[in-house]
Amino acid sequence: MPDSLKHLLLVEDEAPLRQAIAEQLSDRGYQVEQAESGEAALAHLAAFAFDIIVSDLRLPGIDGSAVIEAAVARYPHIIAIVVTGFGTVKDAVEAIKRGACDFVSKPFQIDELLHVLDSAIEQRRLKSENAYLRSQLEERYRFEDIIGKSQPMARLFQLLETVAPTNSTILITGETGTGKEVVARAIHHNSSRRNHRFVALNCSAIPETLLEAELFGHVRGAFTGAVGNRQGRLEQAHKGTLFLDEVGTMSTALQMKLLRVLQEREFERIGDSHTIKVDVRVIAATHSDLARLVAEGQFREDLFYRLNVIPVQLPPLRERKEDIPLLVQHFLEKFEAERDAHVPERGAALRGPKPSGARLAVSQEAMRRLMAYHWPGNVRQLENAVERAVAFTAGRSQIDVDDLPAEVQQAQETAANSTVTLPEEGMDLAAFVANIERELIQRSLERTGGNKGQAARLLNLKRTTLVEKLKRLQNEFSL
Ligand SMILES: Nc1ncnc2c1ncn2[C@@H]1O[C@H](COP(=O)(O)OP(=O)(O)OP(=O)(O)O)[C@@H](O)[C@H]1O
Ligand SMILES: [Mg+2]
Repeated sequence: MPDSLKHLLLVEDEAPLRQAIAEQLSDRGYQVEQAESGEAALAHLAAFAFDIIVSDLRLPGIDGSAVIEAAVARYPHIIAIVVTGFGTVKDAVEAIKRGACDFVSKPFQIDELLHVLDSAIEQRRLKSENAYLRSQLEERYRFEDIIGKSQPMARLFQLLETVAPTNSTILITGETGTGKEVVARAIHHNSSRRNHRFVALNCSAIPETLLEAELFGHVRGAFTGAVGNRQGRLEQAHKGTLFLDEVGTMSTALQMKLLRVLQEREFERIGDSHTIKVDVRVIAATHSDLARLVAEGQFREDLFYRLNVIPVQLPPLRERKEDIPLLVQHFLEKFEAERDAHVPERGAALRGPKPSGARLAVSQEAMRRLMAYHWPGNVRQLENAVERAVAFTAGRSQIDVDDLPAEVQQAQETAANSTVTLPEEGMDLAAFVANIERELIQRSLERTGGNKGQAARLLNLKRTTLVEKLKRLQNEFSL
């Protein structure tokens, strides 16, 4: 039970039963106030903001469902549970309509009530977490489609803000799925060229011979199959932005021609002698290490410098794990909306009074696995995992571990096991622990630049204790 949700009002007219439940709940850490009637309950509610109310439905005077209604009206976030008589499910349904979260039927075991309480609290927590994530998403991003609040992303946004409005050539590097194309588009849309075209050309997706024609266009008869005159991508991007994706795969011959375009901003269509002037901004992207390709002689050095005027490096997802919940929320909303668009009744339900945000929640355990996984395919892979999970959860309100791809499900096990494993043949516990101690002390000293006082504070040790340990370690390990 979370510490913050422990104040509970128990409304029950049968004194011995009320007393028994109150004691059991107190034993589990709840702070219980008791009310023996509806009137008494209302008085309690007026005086104090309870986290939880558990109320019998049948009370003399003001009945339980009126109490629940009053409680929810006053405190929309209160967790309300009703206790019904045997076989009066209809009344329970009525109470839920009036705002109760759940119900238990008399006679019940205390464990039943505790279980209902636990799951109501968990529901509430997920709901408020969703609301929090949503409020973060709704903050205006200047680069609307790029989700991320981590340090590396904050630095990226700062850089993009500075460079987007300029005409400078940009080289975006990053592993697959890190958002190179999203960033390229965002740069275009935040530049003065936004009213002209963003033309993308994936250099690795087109055979070499066709790539040249794609880029520069051709005139009729320039080569076999060139039946008419054709504009190339460069011309299409005039006054706009040309995005050259996977530029590292270009042949050296074509690299040479591209270099000329970057230097002179002019070119000829294939088979033509007429020179065409263009005003394009070039953004290139690659997942390979271009500097290494230059060193290996596979990429022209002069072209590299022409492209790499402003390098923009996208961090892999595993280096910004704190963005994962935000991205998950973003993709949940996207795929839920897509799913609802295909299911008319759901679409209609969406047009109810509270349409915004994802209704699907992600269980904490599932989120832990999502954050523990190393995501070699980065954001694209995460997006696919969420899409799959949304499809799997049709009809349920929560994404669980089982809904995740197998490799993600296993993520936490390896993370948890990797720090401490007990080898088959056994181990020397004292030596193992001493090693960990030594390593942590060393790291704390590194982090504080050798300042023992600060290092001791980092480890919650007295300075003298740290000094003693250091002496001992110096003897043992010659640290
Ligand atoms: N920061 C982000 N916020 C929201 N969505 C993102 C983000 N980064 C990537 N995506 C999404 O992830 C997917 C992959 O992005 P993108 O195509 O830009 O990656 P890439 O780096 O070009 O990958 P590749 O090298 O495989 O071409 C897209 O669906 C994109 O919308
Ligand atoms: Mg791409």
